[in-house]
Amino acid sequence: MAELVYIDGEFVPKEQATIPFFDHGYLYGDGVFEGVRVYNGRVFRLEPHVDRLLFSARALAFNLEKMTFDFVRDAILETCRRNDHSNGYIRVNLTRGTGLGLDPAHIENRPLLTIATRQLALYPQEYYDNGLTMVTCSTRVLSPDTIDPRIKCMGKYINNILAKMEANRVGAGEGIMLNAQGCVAEATGDNVFIVKDNILHTPPPSAGCLKGITRQAAIELAEGMGIPVRETNLTLYDLYTADECFLTGTAAEIIPGVELDKRLLGSGKPGPITRRLNEAFRRLTAETGTPVF
Ligand SMILES: Cc1ncc(COP(=O)(O)O)c(C=O)c1O
Repeated sequence: MAELVYIDGEFVPKEQATIPFFDHGYLYGDGVFEGVRVYNGRVFRLEPHVDRLLFSARALAFNLEKMTFDFVRDAILETCRRNDHSNGYIRVNLTRGTGLGLDPAHIENRPLLTIATRQLALYPQEYYDNGLTMVTCSTRVLSPDTIDPRIKCMGKYINNILAKMEANRVGAGEGIMLNAQGCVAEATGDNVFIVKDNILHTPPPSAGCLKGITRQAAIELAEGMGIPVRETNLTLYDLYTADECFLTGTAAEIIPGVELDKRLLGSGKPGPITRRLNEAFRRLTAETGTPVF
């Protein structure tokens, strides 16, 4: 079956899909995006993903006249249906419009929505069983007083790409990114949690991290188990001395981090709270979500 992508209201085979040469997302990274996950024919937390996309676009003053919540949600579901896509990843991009030159006053301010479905390259199960090794990256996250970290926009990901390359260079599974003050912000594509004395700690978005949807699910699951959760600034000291550490993200789900900068975190093995949360998260993704079909 030919893989179809959604582009500006049409479904076309992905080989034939083209982006306008002067698309502002292509020219300047002037776009927002979402990575969404579908499990057994149900889209996990579709509403918060559509909300985050549209809030990101609104914060960047895109013209959202026609881009309503229902329009975007229906386009995502229809793209899954057309591709018979029951498991995997959904990529949703929304760019400001088309035109050469920075000035949005001089371009066609008609946002371009594109959606593609993909099988996911998952972390191997052994990473969940044994945990990830991580390294602190020298590439810092953008300061929250430049672009609000809650805006999931294309352009700023160049930092995450550079940080990921740093992690790759030393064979680490993930890279930890700090903010300009030296506090832990997030991993290159995931949020960071630690467990200390049976309390969960994670940096607030004001530290420079994305307000992750998996992060939110982990917080809710922990609270449901009676585990206190604190959003607080963390330094490398907090990670090095944590009892447990894990990362959360749409692709990674809840994955233990057991080594950072060649130091073992906690026991150096996935901890009991991480395991419980991971199991609870897998149940949540199996049992909830918006049906595609
Ligand atoms: C930089 C960054 N942080 C955190 C996350 C995790 O967010 P979510 O759980 O919404 O996928 C992502 C995933 O897109 C990300 O790119």
